[in-house]
Amino acid sequence: MRSFADSNNDGVGDLPGITSRLDYLRSLGVDGLWLTPFYPSPQKDHGYDVADYYGVNPEYGTLDDFGRLVEEAHRRGIKVLIDIVPNHTSSRHPWFEAALSGTDDPHRTRYYFVPGRNGAPPNNWQSAFGGPAWTQLEGVPEWYMHLFAPEQPDLNWWNPVVPAEFRKIITYWLDRGADGFRIDVAVSLHKRRDLADRPLVPHRITGAPTTAPGFEIIDQPEVHDVYRDWRHIAGTYEPERVLVGEIFDPGRQSRYIKQDELHMAFAMMDRRWDASAWKRAIDVYRHAVSRSTSLPSWTQSNHDVIRHATRLGGGGLGRERAKASAFLLLGLPGQYFIYQGEELGLEEAFVPPERREDPLYIHTNGRHQGRDGCRVPMPWRQHEPNAGFSTSPPWLPMPAAWDRNAIDAQARSTTSVLSLYRRLLEARCGLARRLPARMDWAAAPQDCLIYHRGPLSVACNFGHRPLELDLPGRLLIGSSPGVRRSATRLLMPPNSAAWLETRRSAGT
Ligand code: NOJ
Repeated sequence: MRSFADSNNDGVGDLPGITSRLDYLRSLGVDGLWLTPFYPSPQKDHGYDVADYYGVNPEYGTLDDFGRLVEEAHRRGIKVLIDIVPNHTSSRHPWFEAALSGTDDPHRTRYYFVPGRNGAPPNNWQSAFGGPAWTQLEGVPEWYMHLFAPEQPDLNWWNPVVPAEFRKIITYWLDRGADGFRIDVAVSLHKRRDLADRPLVPHRITGAPTTAPGFEIIDQPEVHDVYRDWRHIAGTYEPERVLVGEIFDPGRQSRYIKQDELHMAFAMMDRRWDASAWKRAIDVYRHAVSRSTSLPSWTQSNHDVIRHATRLGGGGLGRERAKASAFLLLGLPGQYFIYQGEELGLEEAFVPPERREDPLYIHTNGRHQGRDGCRVPMPWRQHEPNAGFSTSPPWLPMPAAWDRNAIDAQARSTTSVLSLYRRLLEARCGLARRLPARMDWAAAPQDCLIYHRGPLSVACNFGHRPLELDLPGRLLIGSSPGVRRSATRLLMPPNSAAWLETRRSAGT
């Protein structure tokens, strides 16, 4: 939300900014958008601390701006998914403010307010942002729960008022044209009722104390009831609206992605650059959804992780690998979520410590570098201040020469990452109707993966050495200019991938 496009030059991205760039997204071949939270919020966790689920943060625009974005997106055949944050509110949400107004206030039952143990928190649960998952209220023996920052108190989903309110919220946004939701920390809603201490055992590799396997704080059976209810609501719209869970664990995906629960979740491909590790991960995610009518949602980066061009080695090497991995994943059955800027080959940016804003950095006292480095705004135009994002200094500083990644510069070059993504997405779109939901691995040399999917064959060379493959088919597109066809063989430089088309028909 904050980093895509800024329409009013205040240094922060906004809804009209996104609307003004829909043609760019369409030209890329995008058919759906996911917006991170745009609700009124003190921005302690960049929108994941919602103070009003029915509005738009003035920094990002107005409800009318949301309506215009939806209308313009739909006119271009682009769906709009919005982020829903049901696990916690902001500490500035009227419910929480009311809860703090007195020990008898009924709003307390909408959160977890629990007496401590001799001045210590009620249990040993930890916040994802560091320290205990509990904060004590001044002058009273009670603590409140927050699995994230103290400014994000957890809602008590056992209280029927909470699910009832969220039914209203999701209906409200669906009625305003949203095509569905990305559900934040989707399996966390209900916490185990006994609030028991986590039994700690030494970690298998590091030896550090870790929660004993099988002990669940979250992921309670009742969470499924919520999604059955939401799925029913989604099904009352025509066409059916979509529910995407923020769930990465394949075991959980197979329990939540169902005909009557969520439609999809994220297959996060964050493995080291190794053919067998990637093959295993692809298979695990494929099988996680194999019993449902869904397919995996492949993804390599988002606003919470180090950008994959950096993870895969950085510099020229990381870029080549990132291009190859896009080839590998975009050919697979399923959806692919592009994180803004990955189509430019953007790397993780260095953000000076005094400019970092991420609560993960702040609450861990800098032990965790935080997620600001993947959130630095998009570079739109070369040779313009702030890479054309804004005439004001952007909310996160751009590194020197960030504008050399700019979209206008890459659009002019036929060899840029942007041009490659465009051609790849175009090829994918052109083949779409002939691609079956099934793929099959083919025998491949070491450090290489090859699969067939109907008329498409995809090969990826993970190794340090060039490869020559006897792979039939017309070369559609290669991830680097070095990918070529000789009379009979496919030549693949290290860290490259290729798409070939054969006469095989769909379904074979
Ligand atoms: C997941 C979101 O993607 C992340 O940005 C946020 O900090 C946590 N959930 C808490 O809402």
